Amino acid sequence: MEAARRIDELTKELNEHAYRYHVLDDPLISDGEYDRLFQELLKLEEAYPGLAAEDSPTRRVGGVALDKFEQVAHRLPMLSLENGFSDQDLRDFILRLERFLNEPVSTGFSAEPKMDGLAVELVYQQGRLITGSTRGDGLIGEDISAQLKTITAIPLSLLRSNSDLLEVRGEVYMEKQGFADLNDSQLAQGLQPFANPRNAAAGSLRQLDPSITAQRPLRFFAYGVGDPESTPCASQTELLDYLRQIGFPTCPYNSFCIDIVEVIRHFERLTSIRHQLPYEIDGMVVKVDELGLQNRLGVKSRAPRWAIARKFPATQATTTLTGVEFQVGRTGAVTPVALLEPVNLDGATVSRATLHNQGEIDRKDLRVGDAVLVQRAGDVIPEVVKPIVDRRDGNETPIKLPSRCPACDSDLIKPDDEAVTRCPNLQCPAQLLRGLIHYCSKAGLDIEGLGKRYVEQLYEEKIIREVADLYTMDRQVLKGLEGWGEKSADNVLAAIDQARKPPLADFIAALGIRFIGENSASLLESHFGSLDKLAAATEEELIEIDGIGEQAARSLVDYFTNERIIEILSQLSQAGVSPVAAQKAAAELALSGATLVFTGSLTKLSRDEAKKLVKEHGGTIASSVTRKVTHVVAGEKAGSKLTKAREAGKTILSEEEFLSLVGRARE
Ligand code: IVH
Repeated sequence: MEAARRIDELTKELNEHAYRYHVLDDPLISDGEYDRLFQELLKLEEAYPGLAAEDSPTRRVGGVALDKFEQVAHRLPMLSLENGFSDQDLRDFILRLERFLNEPVSTGFSAEPKMDGLAVELVYQQGRLITGSTRGDGLIGEDISAQLKTITAIPLSLLRSNSDLLEVRGEVYMEKQGFADLNDSQLAQGLQPFANPRNAAAGSLRQLDPSITAQRPLRFFAYGVGDPESTPCASQTELLDYLRQIGFPTCPYNSFCIDIVEVIRHFERLTSIRHQLPYEIDGMVVKVDELGLQNRLGVKSRAPRWAIARKFPATQATTTLTGVEFQVGRTGAVTPVALLEPVNLDGATVSRATLHNQGEIDRKDLRVGDAVLVQRAGDVIPEVVKPIVDRRDGNETPIKLPSRCPACDSDLIKPDDEAVTRCPNLQCPAQLLRGLIHYCSKAGLDIEGLGKRYVEQLYEEKIIREVADLYTMDRQVLKGLEGWGEKSADNVLAAIDQARKPPLADFIAALGIRFIGENSASLLESHFGSLDKLAAATEEELIEIDGIGEQAARSLVDYFTNERIIEILSQLSQAGVSPVAAQKAAAELALSGATLVFTGSLTKLSRDEAKKLVKEHGGTIASSVTRKVTHVVAGEKAGSKLTKAREAGKTILSEEEFLSLVGRARE
């Protein structure tokens, strides 16, 4: 039956794409294309519910919420690790091993980043994911199967399986970027932000409703199995390779080290790159590589004798909370910022740290005058962890957000269902200044020479108040400012001149519309192609766009119908600012609405180039000739797909015809 075949095909194809993305780090198709295939499968499965495969990626969207988590026993205990804090601790570790074995370890070690997430166990029977659980106390964990199945990096079925039962262990984590985006959206919705990526990952996994977990950017790296006997491997290094081959992502910074010198060198390398990694690590795990040796070494109490965690030096310190400043952001959110006695953390001097909101202050019971513990987790901004209550002398004063805006004295508002307190005055000078800073910043038009400090100066000198003022600044005035000269004035004016024709997406992002970041801005650019069309769009039209949610749609309509904003935009246009759409609006592209299949071999293009061209011109790629397919591009030795396309009356193109369709005809 046609539907059954297509469902099977899509399931395989989508799982293969997920594997290429997460394990091989070599995706063939864009996220948008993946989504389209996914939607096609979803529709088919809705029409034929009996046909959905066990390992269908659509099963990852969540399912029903639980009342509580059930307990599951681990067949083999999930051990913890002994910690080491110096190179000497590593040398001692190896000496202890060799004493225990009564011979040198000549077969090396596996040195792996210690992922800062949550340990989980995934149980596969006959190659299918049956249960997934947290570590718990090592013997009994919680059943979070439904939550783990939403993580696309975790295979629902193995690419191949050599044994009936395989217990894969690894770390669920969140990337720093995903964490920042999640916190932005938590804040935008008036919800509590998470303290760090680890907490965000834990909080996301421990959602009783797996459809919430499904929306969180969780990742997974595998680093071991319950029982190595269930694999054909003789060493940890082989085991990591094997895990990749059967479908699991592993950390690319795992390294085989022949001896202690190499182990220490790898630790130094990780120390120097850790802040550039997309995820947080809190040290390095060193494991005896040979599984036979691991077996001989065995376990002492709750940790194996064959492994150690070399931790990075702690980046916490104590200092005094000397005061609190209330900052008014671009959208009016009032954020309390802790003023600290300067303290060195990880080589940087820290004198301020965000306190997020009143809820966080109350939860931690922070008071002015407290001795506090501060930390810098990874390269996340410094935070106040907790007060040191023992050190209180009774002179500490509680912290309360003001009821009036510190910048404009308007009454602040705090909706009951939001964590954030806001200044409602669109003319609030603090909001205007933040808006200006944003407009000139990297997240906006990236105007060179107009970093935060300079925008503040121009604002304080009353040279600019609104964005349009940037475009009418006077050279004479600028060059006379403190710290400025002819050269800096000319450079800034030249940069501003360039910012008269900004890419439309950058301009939309620069406006600082609530809920509209760089990604949504670029969606809006490709959908509308001009600011006027965007400004005229209705909420319904906006919601129709893939990637624009209800809140964003409402915010856009509010923005473009606000009288002040209409005035500001008209001032900008009078100042000669006219954003240009780089990409044509989707509806104007050569292949928009078309679905193409390639068959046979191409001579002028690689498959990847061809796919890229299709995408650039607004088309979609399919892998087989379905009803949706509009064109079939037939290369040399085209096979059954061509026959099928002819029968189905599809448009058939040669490679040259395809090239001329996308305006790339060559002689
Ligand atoms: S091996 C017996 N490898 O560290 C070995 N653990 O206390 C036990 N972790 O929470 C684990 N990265 O989730 C191992 N490459 C890695 C790891 C790793 C992070 C975590 C693990 C657990 C803790 C061990």
